[in-house]
Amino acid sequence: MRAVDIIMKKRDGLELAHDELAFMVSSYVNGSIPEYQVSAWLMAVFFRGMSARETADLTTLMLNSGQVMDLSGIAGPFVDKHSTGGVGDKVSLILAPMVAACGVRVPMMSGRALGHTGGTLDKLETIPGYTTRLDQARFREYLARDGFAMTGQTDAIVPADKKLYSLRDVTATVESIPLITASILSKKVAEGAEALVFDVKCGPGAFMKTVDDARALAKSLVSTGSAMGKRIVALISDMSEPLGCMVGNFLEVEESMDCLNGKGPSDLMELSYRLGGWMLVAGGKAKDLGEGIALCKEAITSGKATKLFFDNVKSQGGDVDALVRMYGTRRSAFARTLVSPADGYISSVDAYKIGLAGVHLGVGRNTVSDPVSAEAGFVFHKRKGQALRKGEPVATVYGKDEASIDAAWPLVQSSLCVGDSAPAAMPLIIEELTAL
Ligand code: URA
Repeated sequence: MRAVDIIMKKRDGLELAHDELAFMVSSYVNGSIPEYQVSAWLMAVFFRGMSARETADLTTLMLNSGQVMDLSGIAGPFVDKHSTGGVGDKVSLILAPMVAACGVRVPMMSGRALGHTGGTLDKLETIPGYTTRLDQARFREYLARDGFAMTGQTDAIVPADKKLYSLRDVTATVESIPLITASILSKKVAEGAEALVFDVKCGPGAFMKTVDDARALAKSLVSTGSAMGKRIVALISDMSEPLGCMVGNFLEVEESMDCLNGKGPSDLMELSYRLGGWMLVAGGKAKDLGEGIALCKEAITSGKATKLFFDNVKSQGGDVDALVRMYGTRRSAFARTLVSPADGYISSVDAYKIGLAGVHLGVGRNTVSDPVSAEAGFVFHKRKGQALRKGEPVATVYGKDEASIDAAWPLVQSSLCVGDSAPAAMPLIIEELTAL
């Protein structure tokens, strides 16, 4: 088999056979074909797309390029959630203990902040002592004991994606639905989950800017995941505004604790209950979404979800007393207040600009090796639709230093739009697709 023939076939819009895809994946992982041929193949896929069968084959081949988490001997069901990334999206921190409290085990493998989007691992690592580097034995132990465990991707899990994703990043081939599907699903299936709930974000602060693109990705995740024998739900949710009132690393841990106490902002509570409800349905613990949501609410009001959150913090090396002490006080000394430029109503707070401003402040990073700040971020005092007077505080902005706030400030100021009348309310959850 020759890579050039496979590139040519895809270039001409033809469907690749399983063994041709296997050749490309294995030859790239073992270094026997050069990156320029893989780059050309990726670009051909970008323009020509892939059939459902090709996408499922590629996903399985990528999955089998590495280890699959062995969860044998632990009682299931195992269900995880994956968000395609947004600003202020701390749902994983709320969902894992809440759903675990309802009897579904959550083997969660998360990522780091990159560009304007935040990362669960960076948030968790602001808890003093907390480690997200778990070997398989410790991951299994905590999953069995606490009902959930939080880890990062290791080199042994889907090595094909590590190489392909980096190459896609520099060859302008990231935004391809079949390549995104194979990348996300191979990693999620490798965790050992039997069912998956996806939160496909849509809007300026998301990877997918339009509902049509988000729907195409959601459909592809649902059809490929179910072809691989998994029960799948995909929600499309709005990411025009930051989710919740806090954006930052420790700040988002704090807001997650508020949600676990039932005192979180309404958008974050709504999304957490909806995703949690579906996770319980997908895991067979609830007969329908209504029952799933009711069980999630009970896990919050009973305090069970908070207890499991603290149990997990302790298991993963975190200092619960220090976390509780830092709650509400851990803020950068470098702060500035964003005030309203006029009387009126907040018509929008642009999530994308807030995410980009966050990179300057130290919340996010431009490259995977950049450090992030625990204490930088935003606390919003007013949100979309609220009335306000000229000069009234809208947000407190924390930076890693004064210069970072200066750099972020044009983006922060231009993210805020104040109009004469209240904007129309938009639904947070736009669509739901299920294959259960
Ligand atoms: N996230 C991933 O893990 N892979 C992609 O291809 C895109 C987003």
